[in-house]
Amino acid sequence: MKYFYTLLACLLFSVNIWAQDQHPFYATMALHHAEALVKDAPNDIEILSTYRNEAAVLMTPTGSHKLHDRILTHGPGYIFRNSKEEAITSIQNPPTKTARNARAALDFTITEDVTVIPTLALIQTQNIADHIIELENYGTRYHNRASGTQAAIDLKEKWEAMAASYGRTDVSVRLYEHTNTEMPSVILTITGAEFPDEYVITGGHLDSTSNQGNNNAPGADDDASGIATITEATRALFEIDFVPKRTIEVMAYAAEEIGLVGSNEIASEYAANNINVVAVSQFDMTLFNGSSNDVSFITDFTSGELTSYMMSLLDHYNTSEPHQVTYSTSVCNYGCSDHASWTGQGYMAAFPFEANFGQHNSNIHSTGDVFSLTNTATHATKFAKLCAEFLIEVAKNDNTALAVNDVIAPSIFITIQDGVLSYDFTAAQKEITGIHLHDIRGKEVMVVTNVSERDQITTPVLSTGVYIASFTTEDTNSSTIAKKLIVSN
Ligand code: BES
Ligand code: ZN
Repeated sequence: MKYFYTLLACLLFSVNIWAQDQHPFYATMALHHAEALVKDAPNDIEILSTYRNEAAVLMTPTGSHKLHDRILTHGPGYIFRNSKEEAITSIQNPPTKTARNARAALDFTITEDVTVIPTLALIQTQNIADHIIELENYGTRYHNRASGTQAAIDLKEKWEAMAASYGRTDVSVRLYEHTNTEMPSVILTITGAEFPDEYVITGGHLDSTSNQGNNNAPGADDDASGIATITEATRALFEIDFVPKRTIEVMAYAAEEIGLVGSNEIASEYAANNINVVAVSQFDMTLFNGSSNDVSFITDFTSGELTSYMMSLLDHYNTSEPHQVTYSTSVCNYGCSDHASWTGQGYMAAFPFEANFGQHNSNIHSTGDVFSLTNTATHATKFAKLCAEFLIEVAKNDNTALAVNDVIAPSIFITIQDGVLSYDFTAAQKEITGIHLHDIRGKEVMVVTNVSERDQITTPVLSTGVYIASFTTEDTNSSTIAKKLIVSN
């Protein structure tokens, strides 16, 4: 078995046949799942290497089905890997916990009420519903079916037409061709006006699957809902003429259902090219309202920092009707969607999900995953609002402004020590009209109006951490001078 399949796999991969449908393939998975499968189906899996709790394996499609049916509570539970080497090295270099962009953390403030609040009112539930039905009507979007590829080609056109209808010349849409699937991913790019090299990404998967045969895989919730959600958030951004400082990319991934194939290739390429991705949000299943809370943030294979930032977005923008959104947390137990591809490359990713795990739509991966099951996209609308908040707030980049002001005005003196904020703008000849102190999450901890050019102000009790003091000035353009301050007790 061992040598036969190794030989066969080498042969097949070298001629680039869609290995996953008929032939053994390389993958990584939780070690306990691999061991259970060895017991259950010794002829369908070979463990090549293990590292901590992970295993690199060679397995047959039959093995993957057994894994799905007998061992897991859901899904295949493995990540497809291109080669034996990739499988083995990927478990030996577990995802880094820190973001590639260390500066990103300092950008996680909430300041864009003026832009976000009107955007929320523009998000239309009907648009989301219409788009889900449109996608469901392909019959199947399975990655190797012609209609799967057609869905990608059509989505590119739909996004292009949407951007054009709002007169956007800063938007482009491309098909991203893959190595391990014939289906392309679709990527919409809004080029950042000030920091085009810093990326904010949101995505969902366009492909669908069904364990009753892949000719009938409507995939309304999984994941037409995510595609419709991010599309409507993007449309609302266009409607308010939002121009991001950073580059925004909206991604419809191919071939997620066979092991995160599309997102894995994209995230690997971005990492190989050292692309500075500030944050990634994943929308996979937003339609079904199965828990008492609206959003369940998946806390494994995601960034805790980004997840808690998204929670603060909901705390800030969604505490009351008509935009109320409640949330809780849950786990998938393994990299169950495309966020894991980004996490695996060391980027910060978050995954707001439709329900607590186990209370989610039980009709996914079947012919019953249709829109008529819920017949309303009100639940998905909440996710579209969160998506718009994420894109607007993360794409703003107020961090550079802070850095510049720290450097360009040595004559300005600002410190915080022993509970006293001291400042002096006299040498800089700047008149100050107000002071705001925010913590790193964007929460306002102090506001002072009626201030002078120079003062010492007692702050409320501050816990250890980074704060941002913003001084509004009486300039011609009434600009703000901000400084990061570290409080260490
Ligand atoms: N939408 C699901 C992920 C999901 C399903 C999350 C149920 C939470 C509850 C996704 O499309 C999927 O099916 N993922 C696979 C794993 C993937 C690596 C192929 C899964 O979870 O089984
Ligand atoms: Zn799925």
